[in-house]
Amino acid sequence: MNTKKLIGPFKQVIPMSGLSLKGAISDDQLMIIKDAGIIVADGKIQDIGDFETLVKNSEGIEIHELKGNHTCLPGLVDAHTHICFGGTRANDYAMRNAGKSYLEIAKAGGGIWDTVTQTRKASSEELVKRTTKLANRHLKNGVTTIEVKSGYGLSVAEELKMLRAIQETNKNVSADLIATCLAAHMLPKDYSGSQSDYLAEISEQLFPILKEEKLTNRIDAFIEESAFSAEQITPYFEKAKAMGFDITVHADQFSTSGSKVAIDFEAISADHLEASTQMEVELLAKSNVIATALPGASIGLGCDFTPARNILDAGGALAIASDHNPGSAPMGDLLTQAAILGTFEKLSNAEVLAGITFRAAAALNLNDRGQLAEGYTGDFIGFHTDNYQEILYNQGNFKPCMVWKNGELVFDKHK
Ligand code: NIG
Ligand code: FE
Repeated sequence: MNTKKLIGPFKQVIPMSGLSLKGAISDDQLMIIKDAGIIVADGKIQDIGDFETLVKNSEGIEIHELKGNHTCLPGLVDAHTHICFGGTRANDYAMRNAGKSYLEIAKAGGGIWDTVTQTRKASSEELVKRTTKLANRHLKNGVTTIEVKSGYGLSVAEELKMLRAIQETNKNVSADLIATCLAAHMLPKDYSGSQSDYLAEISEQLFPILKEEKLTNRIDAFIEESAFSAEQITPYFEKAKAMGFDITVHADQFSTSGSKVAIDFEAISADHLEASTQMEVELLAKSNVIATALPGASIGLGCDFTPARNILDAGGALAIASDHNPGSAPMGDLLTQAAILGTFEKLSNAEVLAGITFRAAAALNLNDRGQLAEGYTGDFIGFHTDNYQEILYNQGNFKPCMVWKNGELVFDKHK
């Protein structure tokens, strides 16, 4: 049972509130609440303020007193992962580092299709076990909300197997898993019809079941030469929109065109954007689409980072996600990747932290998390430091020592 409790004192609470969804942010805009306590009730934040003052008025409130110096951030949000999969792609990684390109490896029978084959072979139980393990690892690293895509099933039955496994995993783990249907990841090699036939079949047969079983309200597609064109995806996204799904797009990873599709369909987010030119950057910035950078894919593939600085300077909303998947982004460490993106793209601490908290929540169309303020979910994390700058300065090698989800302590390194 969730009783009312006061947690603290934290040397610094960085609530990430009062900041704009779009555009550049400097560190001096960050609110820092010093020597603070957080009151949570029924899983939600009720108050944040001076710890000693809160203690004085704490009659009937349980006090969870922290020893030593701690700095508190909102629970991190990873708005793009593929952590439900079978097998490994260590061989792809070796081939790639031996000089083969992502598309060459895919054409030679590796790539996404290899993971589809291995995921189809895996039982539902195996998928649940794997996804649980990776979600729990993420939770320990401070990630309390994790988006998880299907997209390694690529048939109605196999996509359902994945999405049901994600739904089942969500019951077992403390983090919230937000499922997304990525049946439009590539044309399955064993499908005899065209891209358009495949997409029509998926939208007619799978979409109604997603609604019926409440498996997801998000539809994603990979717009790329090796996957689907803007033209092919149009009827698919039209159908998804008409049924009330939120749209998200794998856009501009190797070539442009996906970001325009995202804007035209008023997608919640356009993710990747490594190939976006200034023209795409400016169009995205003018739109309400959240631009999600995936530095883990740049690090995994050894290619350019998303032009994050340009996106922010143009006035865009920048989220940062791990893209954790067995192929292009095998590391899966959000904090490390976000810190590295910050170094290469010259992002302020505030911009990086915004990208993995409230701006990432917006990329999932969630407005109840990603900041610490009255009424928000009690998802927050503590680091052993009295200075929030230490967090990104350590480039991911400094992890939280405590994680609270809905006001409950779900990870404590001291124990
Ligand atoms: O986001 N770009 C397409 N999809 C994934 C890669 C998936 C894979 O390689 O298995 C991505 O990078
Ligand atoms: Fe992805």
